[in-house]
Amino acid sequence: MQASIANKPRFKSFATEAIHVGQEPEQWKSMAVVPPISLSTTFKQYRPGDHAGFEYSRSGNPTRNCLEKAVAALDGAKHCLALASGLAATMTISHMLKAGDGIVCMNDVYGGTNRYFRKIAAEVGLVVSFADCTKIELLQAALKPNTKRPLALGADICMYSATKYMNGHSDVVMGLVSVNREDLYDRLRFLQNALGAVPSPFDCYLCNRGLKTLHLRMRQHFKNALAAAKFLEADPRVDRVIFPGLPSHPQHELMKKQCTGCPGMIAFYIKGNLENATMFLSNLKLFALAESLGGYESLAEHPAIMTHASVPESDRAALGISDTMVRLSVGLEDEQDIIEDLEQALNAAHNAHNDEIIIREQPAL
Ligand SMILES: Cc1ncc(COP(=O)(O)O)c(C=O)c1O
Repeated sequence: MQASIANKPRFKSFATEAIHVGQEPEQWKSMAVVPPISLSTTFKQYRPGDHAGFEYSRSGNPTRNCLEKAVAALDGAKHCLALASGLAATMTISHMLKAGDGIVCMNDVYGGTNRYFRKIAAEVGLVVSFADCTKIELLQAALKPNTKRPLALGADICMYSATKYMNGHSDVVMGLVSVNREDLYDRLRFLQNALGAVPSPFDCYLCNRGLKTLHLRMRQHFKNALAAAKFLEADPRVDRVIFPGLPSHPQHELMKKQCTGCPGMIAFYIKGNLENATMFLSNLKLFALAESLGGYESLAEHPAIMTHASVPESDRAALGISDTMVRLSVGLEDEQDIIEDLEQALNAAHNAHNDEIIIREQPAL
């Protein structure tokens, strides 16, 4: 990592960079203020090997370029590469390794990433281990001595599923990878082209557009999620709420040190059993019962049955992904409407099917 980039203040002008970097109208003959969607798969050359910067759309595309430049700026990185999905980004990075090399992954990672590492990467000889990354000593034990920490904190590679908050509108599947080191960039650029898991120009256009409001959306996601988390934590029909913005979260102080806020992701345990969780989820009206997260709309899901079904059952039990765990992606709707929906679904989950719990927990009622 170059000192000048490492020392650049993080997110000094996040909003301005998201809106302007890589979007310069002067790069187009038309002087278009909004980057055009460049659909051509191939680009005319002046002479063999002498071209205007693009040859074939898998190896480089003008619309993708705009997005990659904007994200690199937001990451304080020299380079960014857009891939076809978050998992395609994970796969492309994993292709930098060879059989016998090790991967250390956080143990409560997304189910699809867990499945890729266990069922594909491990099958071709990569040595995958899972560690509880909240316990630094376990992480250190799992890491090789030369492993570094995340871009601004010193990481070599920063990877995203842009499908989530960066695009933010639940209409694009994409991955992004940022790096400062030239050798890593060269290798990843080679793999991006050689493996071919690239996003379409239209998706790049949409994600680039989504970035322009990321800072505004994240503020509102945090505000709405904090209100929802506080509401749930105070409700007697809820056992426990997991949200880093609450003082009850074990990493709350760390979050305050490292972040300017939290995304809209909340996990909570409803009192009772699978039936109560199912009733809660089936009765939501504003929240859609659906996988994924990070869009403007509120979503709810059952991790054990849905997003984390591919995590082995014993691992799910160890991680606390139980029958009563519910996950929310709190969207940008009105805060009061969000809370009212949670409340009416809790009423439906408990009044209809578990009067016993209501009576026990709320003797005054
Ligand atoms: C935390 C996390 N990482 C990675 C992924 C995979 O990303 P993608 O769906 O873009 O392949 C997901 C998808 O849900 C996710 O939730």
